[in-house]
Parts: sequence; structure tokens; C-alpha cells
Amino acid sequence: MTSTVVVGAQFGDEGKGKITDFEAEKADLVVRYQGGNNAGHTVVVDGKTFKFHLLPSGAVQGKRCLIGAGVVLDPRVLKEEIEKIGEIELGIDPRVQIIMPWHNSLDGASEARKGDKKIGTTGRGIGPAYADRASRCGIRFSDLIDEEKLKKRISEEFPIKKDILEKVYGITVDFSEESVFKEYSVLGQEFKSMLSDVSLEASKALNDGKNVLFEGAQGTFLDNDFGTYPFVTSSHPIAGGVFTGVGLGIRKLDKIIGLVKAYTTRVGEGPFPSELDGELANQIREAGGEYGTTTGRPRRVGWLDLCILRTAVRLNGLTDIAFTKLDVLSGLDKILICTDYEIDGEKFNEFPHALENFAKAKPVYKEMSGFKISGKEKSFEELDEKAREYVEFVEKELGVKLSFVSIGPGRKETIQR
Ligand code: GDP
Ligand code: IMO
Ligand code: MG
Repeated sequence: MTSTVVVGAQFGDEGKGKITDFEAEKADLVVRYQGGNNAGHTVVVDGKTFKFHLLPSGAVQGKRCLIGAGVVLDPRVLKEEIEKIGEIELGIDPRVQIIMPWHNSLDGASEARKGDKKIGTTGRGIGPAYADRASRCGIRFSDLIDEEKLKKRISEEFPIKKDILEKVYGITVDFSEESVFKEYSVLGQEFKSMLSDVSLEASKALNDGKNVLFEGAQGTFLDNDFGTYPFVTSSHPIAGGVFTGVGLGIRKLDKIIGLVKAYTTRVGEGPFPSELDGELANQIREAGGEYGTTTGRPRRVGWLDLCILRTAVRLNGLTDIAFTKLDVLSGLDKILICTDYEIDGEKFNEFPHALENFAKAKPVYKEMSGFKISGKEKSFEELDEKAREYVEFVEKELGVKLSFVSIGPGRKETIQR
């Protein structure tokens, strides 16, 4: 029995989809524990690209997939993704929160109202859906699949949400109580047979000696508590999110794989000390295809930041690191790594909890030699000596083994050490 979690150690888009697919080969179950279709996870196998927003990436390996209680689920998106992937064995927890059309509208309206103080959300209704969970007025999967309950819950929620949208935000609501019930009751009946107590199913599988893989979405610094609040998402991407997002005892995780991109990217607003601009940023963005999988927005790009990573090691209890996109840096003359921050003349080597300090942190850089990677290397030893130096330096600084080095998007372009 092994329970493994794949967790983003930076700001998301580190390559979780790729490594989840790689690890899923050995898994009996692949489970999403938080987030929703704000995620965009890419899997590339034999030149074919799959993009998932809601379904666990284990779907490509044909594994049974589960959606845990901590996820917010948009039924329209689920329908689309199931149609795209075709065959899938899927279980959905009754406690999963449903993203309703008013959540999408509220997300957009709230961002527009904030103006230049906006968060830069994906606009998928994530924040408002989690807010309703916390306010105890969310609609759950168990409501969606029961026509009578759904009708009652929509009749209770719709008038309030309509008032907020129209009277507070001045937006015309283009759906009605009836149209929402008509559409969502059909979706509910379609997904009814997928009902599974995910907490029970995952626990039983582990007790029966099976391998369970948990797939995180977003990244450590988008965590609602421990990230760059308020420029965060509304769930808990950190490894601890598995326990509350699935419903498992806290001694149940064996392997915690942190995904670290060989540089840093961020989509949306919020401070980013090692951010680059100009020609070099464009060069890395193009080489790495750094455009959002969900929204298509260009990702902000910067050097690798060891300060946030030291904090990520601690917050997640990382046992392993998967180091991705090393090939993207190939051909640069020199590569910088942020080893420390200078804040008001003082040196720090971790993520400061006060956002204003993070915002004024000046990176202290170590310069490393450039290297070349062809993507054909099959072992660590075959990599350019300078690329190995880069990997070994990061490993030494973080004190966690870089067990995977990824040198291309394809499943096979992965070196296991
Ligand atoms: P996720 O959200 O963490 O799953 O990451 P995304 O799928 O949003 O973004 C990662 C992108 O990088 C995807 O397009 C992947 O196919 C691609 N990718 C993953 N690993 C590598 C790698 O080692 N090298 C290159 N060049 N691309 C990679
Ligand atoms: P994956 O799983 C990168 C960012 C948004 C925004 C903030 C809040 O592919 O790594 P939200 O819509 O969640 O309320 O937006 O979080 N964000 C992501 N950034 N990768 C993601 O997912 C993200 N999901 C949300 O850009 O800054
Ligand atoms: Mg992504």
C-alpha cells in the first residue's frame, strides 16, 4: 500500500498533470481533493495532448478516478470532460459543492468591482462557491442528484443570489429559477450513478493494500491560508488539504511529491519577487509555452526562488521533488537562482508571512552556468554537467531529493533518479 500526493510547490502550473499521469501507472485510484475547474492539467502521451480541468489526470491511464468532498464541481464542465475522454470510471463524493451559474456571475462581478485591486481569478465561480460552503448555503452533489432536494435548494438560493447580482452589482441575470432547475436536474440524473463515499472508498482501498494517488490542483502559494493572501485561491492545495478534502486520517500519506518548475511562473495578480520582464521573460515564456491552460492568459515568468521553496518543503512535508521543464532553460548563457531575500536591509531565506514584506523583498541571486538539453537524455548522468550542477544545487539547498527531472512534456521525457 502506498498513498502518494502530487502537490504544486509554487504558484500552480508546475506540471502536476504530467507527473500525476506518470505516477498513475502504479495507482489503483486517482483522487482530486480540492479546487475545481480553475485548474488546467496537461498530459502528453505519444504526441497526443489531454487537458483536464476537473477530472483527475489518472483518467489517461484508465484508472478509477474519484472527486473528493473538498472539490467544487461545475456539472457543465464535468459533462464536457467526460464526453471528451469517453470511457471513465468515476466516483463523486456526496459532499462535493456544486458551482451554480450565479457563482460564475458573482466571480466576474466581484472582480469587475475591485477594478485594479482585482485578484485575477479564472472567472470560474470558485471563490463564490467556496464562500457558500463556508456560509452553509452551498448546494452539494447529494442535492444535485435528488430532483426534489435540488428544486427546493434552488428555490431558496436563486432569489438571494439574483438580488445580490441585480441590486448590489447592477447586473442583469440571464437565467431563471426554472431554467437552472431544468438544466441542472438533467445533469444530476446523468451523474447519479457516480455517487461514492470517497472518504470510505479511499480509506478502504488503502486498508486493502492498494495504491492511492492524490492529485493537487493550484500550488502552495495559492493556498487560502498559507499563500499570498488575498491573491490566492479559495481552497487548500497544500498536502494537508488531502486530509480534509478527502476525509482521511492524518497518518495516511507515505509520499509527498512537490512539483517544482525549474523557474517560476504565476498567473493572476499578486507579488512575485523574482519576476522577469522584457526580452528574457518573453524568451522563457515562449520556450515554455507559458500560457494558461484554463484561461489562455500569458503567465508571468521569473527565476527559480529557493525562499518560497524552503517554505513549501516545510508546509507540505515534501518527501520528494519532481523538477520540471529543465529543458526550457536550455541555451541560456547564465541562469539566476534567488537564494535569499533582502527586506528593509535584512536578509531572509523563507517566504515572509506578511504580504507587504513579500511585495518589497529584493531577491539575492546566485549565478549559475547555462546548459543544453536535447530532451533525448535517458538518465541523469547523460545530462549536461552544468544542468546536473543546477539540479544538485537546488537539491542541496532544499534538503529533499529531486527524484524526477522532467525534460519535455511527454510521458517518456522523465528521468527518475
Ligand atoms: P499543471 O497545472 O501543474 O498540471 O501544469 P500545466 O499543465 O498547466 O502546465 C504545464 C505545461 O508544461 C503543460 O503544457 C505541460 O505539457 C508542460 N510540461 C510539463 N513538464 C514539462 C517539461 O519537463 N518540459 C516541457 N517543455 N514542458 C513540460
Ligand atoms: P493548476 O491546477 C495557476 C490562480 C488565478 C488567480 C488565483 C485565484 O493548473 O496549477 P481562482 O479562479 O482560483 O479564484 O483564482 O489563483 N489560479 C491558478 N494559477 N494554476 C492554477 O491551477 C490556478 N488556479 C487558480 O490565476 O490568480
Ligand atoms: Mg495548470
